[in-house]
Amino acid sequence: MSSQNSNGVLPSTQALLAEVERGFSASTQRLCDFLRIPSVSTDPKFDAETRRCADWLVAELTALGFKAEAAKTIGQPMVVAHHPGVGPDAAKRPRILYYGHYDVQPADPLELWNSPPFEPVLVDGPRGKRVVARGAVDDKGQVMGIVEALRAWHATAGGPPCPVTLMIEGEEESGSKSLEPFMHEAKARLAADVCVVSDTGMWDIATPAITTRLRGLVYMEVTVHGPTRDLHSGMYGGAVPNPINVLSKIISELHDGERRVTIPGFYDGVGELPAQTKAQWESLGFNDGEFLGDIGLKEGFGERGRSTLERTWSRPTCDVNGIFGGYTGKGAKTVIAAHATAKISFRLVSKQDPAKIAKAFEQFVNSRLPAGCRAEFESHGANSAIEVSESSRFLAAADRGLRAVFGKAPLLIGTGGSIPAVGSIQRILGMDSLLVGFGLDDDCVHSPNEKFELECYRNAIRSHAAMLGEFAQMTR
Ligand code: BES
Ligand code: MN
Ligand code: MN
Repeated sequence: MSSQNSNGVLPSTQALLAEVERGFSASTQRLCDFLRIPSVSTDPKFDAETRRCADWLVAELTALGFKAEAAKTIGQPMVVAHHPGVGPDAAKRPRILYYGHYDVQPADPLELWNSPPFEPVLVDGPRGKRVVARGAVDDKGQVMGIVEALRAWHATAGGPPCPVTLMIEGEEESGSKSLEPFMHEAKARLAADVCVVSDTGMWDIATPAITTRLRGLVYMEVTVHGPTRDLHSGMYGGAVPNPINVLSKIISELHDGERRVTIPGFYDGVGELPAQTKAQWESLGFNDGEFLGDIGLKEGFGERGRSTLERTWSRPTCDVNGIFGGYTGKGAKTVIAAHATAKISFRLVSKQDPAKIAKAFEQFVNSRLPAGCRAEFESHGANSAIEVSESSRFLAAADRGLRAVFGKAPLLIGTGGSIPAVGSIQRILGMDSLLVGFGLDDDCVHSPNEKFELECYRNAIRSHAAMLGEFAQMTR
């Protein structure tokens, strides 16, 4: 094994990429081992498996020379690992923090999977083989992109060229309640110059992307209560408020004819897109037909007068994620339910204030309740939108690394999704994130048959290896 210790020379990108190639089938097997552990963080039934998943990751990182632990938190364990970097020069180089998550979404509805969600399979697709399993791309495949890149550095240089810390959380998909308390407590150990996050997408399979805008998220659950018990809808119907009718009417009033959100003050802080950004997005040549065709649609639907990219990357939204109440079994039952519930999310952009929007939503509902009804609210999280600087030197270094791997420049993109940790990292640890992800739009994130193209997995490993090489050329 060559080592920077002896000669101080960094391995060439070529040598790193060759090592990634040599180890790729073993890297794929390890990803499958990771995917076999059902780390569904939201469901306590999986707590033991989630813990086992954290321990698995700790063992992998320990084998790569990291000091690693599954730290106890108020929720799921936090995987933290540190390596000081190899050789006398490492301390002069930038410190890199990697963030990702090892937890996954629930696999339901199970009957829609073509193979069991926690038994990863390699399936042939139009772009070669893909691995199908819950968490394949969100986020285990991407976390392994980082781990396997560190393995290539370990094999070619004895370890990473820079001081490296990993913080891989186990409850990103379920509210991250331990993340901020953990970050406050572990602030000193997490100190770094940049945070690299791999939990987003590419432009297309051949074109890498750096995400510079994430939407924020306010997630509320509202229950409208009416009569004290379920009632015969003939005996009482027409004479009492029906919570399902009431709730659905309120929901219908959340959008106007232009499909804008009607909550007073909702658009406060929403900026118009700078002309330059708008022009850059137009130049991307986004293919609406492909994006919509993949999900069986011909036309988009949303705020009037906006393109699909504007709608998903730069406009706020309101969506009902689930609604229930009354009789939902087979056949008919004549009943007026005592209560009805909806899970409603708002995606936020620019400077929209999550706390203000949660409050305004409660007022919106409360002011529309008829006598005899009351509403109960539960918050499932509130995070503001994020914009990261497009002129950072770390972004320039990532750009060089990605060019070396793909033979073309990464595009700067936005995303409609949210990664609350990015805001916490900015606020508590005082550093910007660099979002380099390898997912594709048709990966079925959060859906049945989630997949990760092996080509994307290979390029994720190659890219992280090359980007780390670029960071190593910088001074702290
Ligand atoms: N990795 C996703 C975020 C994402 C999705 C980024 C698609 C880019 C494209 C992340 O795991 C996620 O699902 N975030 C949640 C928020 C969280 C609070 C549950 C989201 O966006 O709904
Ligand atoms: Mn994710
Ligand atoms: Mn997710």
